[in-house]
Amino acid sequence: MNISFNNKISLNALVIGLAEDFSLDQHINIDDSLKSLILDILKFQKFEGKSGQRISIATPTHSQIKYIKLKGLGKAEEFNSLSASKFGGKIIGSLKCSKIESSSIILDNRLESKEDHTYANIAYGMLLKNYSFDKYKSAEKLKDKVTLSNLELICSFGNDEQEFFKQELKPVAEAIYFSRNLISEPPNVIYPETFVNAAQKEFESLNIKIEVLDEKQMKDLEMNALLGVGQGSSKESKLLIMQYNGGAKDEAPIAFVGKGVTFDTGGISIKPSANMEDMKYDMSGAAIVTGLIKALAARSAKVNIVAIAGLTENMPDGNAQRPADVVKSMSGQTIEVINTDAEGRLVLADALWYCQDRFKPRYMIDLATLTGAMIVALGTHHAGVFSNNSELEQDLINASKIVEEKLWALPLNNDYDKMIDSVIADVRNTSTGKGAGSITAAQFLKRFVNNVPWAHLDIAGVSWADKDTELHPQGATGFGIRLLNEFIRKYER
Ligand code: BES
Ligand code: MN
Ligand code: ZN
Repeated sequence: MNISFNNKISLNALVIGLAEDFSLDQHINIDDSLKSLILDILKFQKFEGKSGQRISIATPTHSQIKYIKLKGLGKAEEFNSLSASKFGGKIIGSLKCSKIESSSIILDNRLESKEDHTYANIAYGMLLKNYSFDKYKSAEKLKDKVTLSNLELICSFGNDEQEFFKQELKPVAEAIYFSRNLISEPPNVIYPETFVNAAQKEFESLNIKIEVLDEKQMKDLEMNALLGVGQGSSKESKLLIMQYNGGAKDEAPIAFVGKGVTFDTGGISIKPSANMEDMKYDMSGAAIVTGLIKALAARSAKVNIVAIAGLTENMPDGNAQRPADVVKSMSGQTIEVINTDAEGRLVLADALWYCQDRFKPRYMIDLATLTGAMIVALGTHHAGVFSNNSELEQDLINASKIVEEKLWALPLNNDYDKMIDSVIADVRNTSTGKGAGSITAAQFLKRFVNNVPWAHLDIAGVSWADKDTELHPQGATGFGIRLLNEFIRKYER
């Protein structure tokens, strides 16, 4: 798919985005013949530019433009860069649906803003939506797929938009593609070692330093909580450590830690078979932090970043860890493993401790498909945010509103903390009381962050979508990259 920014219409299909109370004469720069054609149609077909309204028009055969789509974009004063991206996504959905491969796009001039980079954001939305994971489909299966070839955004300041798109937005979209690919791959293909290989390959041309700890090295660091999870797997666990330094030399980094359980069977506390296949995306947190650091490095963000992925596979086996096992974590705290399916918090316990101990980060943010209870609480429209620092929490929520990767704050406090006290060890990995499964999981993590300003994002409900939206197709969403990319802006020097 080739996206260009031109000042004249050159293709044979045209999408026109119009806000409410439009006048074709004042707000759209097209030929009079097209205008009168549209006006004629609007005499009997209702279209006022309201959000979601749309009309398709076939034109007379002699016309250069064979097909016109009108899209309603709502109130002009409410249109912003996010609406522009969503418009881009909608165009992709609509063209594919009509099996049109190339189209020019023209926008109501009241909606264009240099400051908001309206056209670059339309292009961004187009990329985000146009993703598909076709690697394992035969040519036969792909033959009905509509592949978009040329999309042309009509704009008088196209060079600036092209530049902004290339510098700031395309690198983020490409990072989202990378993360979605990792998440979409089946678990026989992506496991700790191959995850690391994929990151190494992806980062070849980027200024990102990679280190990988193997099981022996993690054993030496006493990361027994993480290692216990992978004990039943024939694949070796890994800790992937990535660093990007675009900020001042002595500035403490912002750190991101991701849960990377490349497949979660539950272990000896095995999961029911229905929907167990979903657990291939239990490495989404790891994929997101890896994609995020790629995005920041590719757009040369002026900030120091650490990203850590705790990679392991949770399998039942003669050597697997048992419910009732006690493991000593890197922090020195002992953990009673009540349920081997509450494995994400065990992985993060050591990854978080290691992160704060080594990097002394300014902030530490983890992402994890941590609890099914998160889906019970918030469904698929918000991720949960838990934090020991209200300013950090608020900053994350503010960023989440701007990009609409939505967060909802849930509480942490001592009453919940008590629920994970163990009789035999310092802490247990599931709670004693009823309910609050996502909160008690977050309380568990809190015991391993050593008071650094920290936030936990439980992304169990938002990492994978059963249906498409304007900005992603069905499948891996990439949730978290746009959010954290926006969050980071405030800290760029
Ligand atoms: N990976 C799961 C959580 C999950 C469930 C993510 C559904 C995405 C979709 C996690 O490891 C898990 O199994 N959690 C348990 C915790 C319980 C044993 C305390 C759960 O949520 O049931
Ligand atoms: Mn589990
Ligand atoms: Zn899990």
